[in-house]
Amino acid sequence: MRNSRLAAIHDLLAQGPFTHIVLSDLCDIEYLTGFRSSNVWCIVSKSANTLCSDFRYREAALAFCKRRREWKFLEIKGNDFSFLGGALGRNCVAGIQSNVITIDTLGRMKRSCPGVRFVKLPETFGRVFIPKTEREIESMRNAAAIGDRAFADTVGHARPGITERELASFCEDRCRKYGSERPSFDTIVLFGRRAALPHGVPANVRLASGDWVLCDFGCTVDGLASDMTRTFVIGKASAKQKQLYDVVLRAQETARCAVAAGKRACDIDKLARDAIEAAGYGPLFGHATGHGVGLRVHENPRIAGSDKSILQEGTVITIEPGIYHPRFGGVRIEDMVVVREGGGETITGAPRELMQAGLK
Ligand code: GLY
Ligand code: MN
Ligand code: MN
Repeated sequence: MRNSRLAAIHDLLAQGPFTHIVLSDLCDIEYLTGFRSSNVWCIVSKSANTLCSDFRYREAALAFCKRRREWKFLEIKGNDFSFLGGALGRNCVAGIQSNVITIDTLGRMKRSCPGVRFVKLPETFGRVFIPKTEREIESMRNAAAIGDRAFADTVGHARPGITERELASFCEDRCRKYGSERPSFDTIVLFGRRAALPHGVPANVRLASGDWVLCDFGCTVDGLASDMTRTFVIGKASAKQKQLYDVVLRAQETARCAVAAGKRACDIDKLARDAIEAAGYGPLFGHATGHGVGLRVHENPRIAGSDKSILQEGTVITIEPGIYHPRFGGVRIEDMVVVREGGGETITGAPRELMQAGLK
């Protein structure tokens, strides 16, 4: 599919008006080429594919271009955009990724590239990078499996008196021990009422019997992310905790089981939202039902009412409804699902029924 991504870019060039497509988003460049660098640009025209990077990546870039003959290396020298001016020449229309180029950068690009017209690429351009290759999916499956193992250990380690920060750091250590390259985002571990903070930051708050424990964390394998949330109770769950949990679990399962290629993202969101609204908790579910995952933990599509896009085979998304009650705490259950023809393949595997940790 890497080649089909390049083919899609060449199709766009064939349609015009662009004579060149200039990629500057590091993740999109990695999706296109497999080349990872903190300073890399790609310039694609009908006749040439150019990978630009600086001295620090020179050897790796040359080795890449030797393996992938369709790419030529251009070294970035200095701190201006003369490399771009040299590659583009004059009288060209260069499509740029306006979502990642700042106004300052564009000003500098224009100064270095006289005679070049820079034009926003169409919003649909990013769709090229939404479906993942089977190899990328396998890396995410491995990242998710590491997370499952680390979470099982984390539940076993949760006990009254431990702090959110200590449990978050234990979970991250286990992820690393089982093969994660790094956390895919800042780990969220929240206890009791604080579980109602959807993206709360772990603090020196101690766990007490009967508290909620919300863990939202991710691993990275081959640069690709996983993302999973589980919520459990330490000690015995109250009837009210069980009831709230059950509403989220049913909403999550309804949406998750409906995922399939050809469905609209907004319709999957609606299933989760309707289930939570029907139980009377609509206003307490204030975020989207999910999002795409890949090299970035948050990608398109958004599984939200505003996203009318059609889910495509091979896209990896999360399904993560939640209910957040400021005085009673919160519950979120999040899984990763690969969109397939005829259904979804859930790749996060930790148990979903309400766990009462520490009870024999
Ligand atoms: N923790 C980020 C997310 O689940 O979207
Ligand atoms: Mn998450
Ligand atoms: Mn997520």
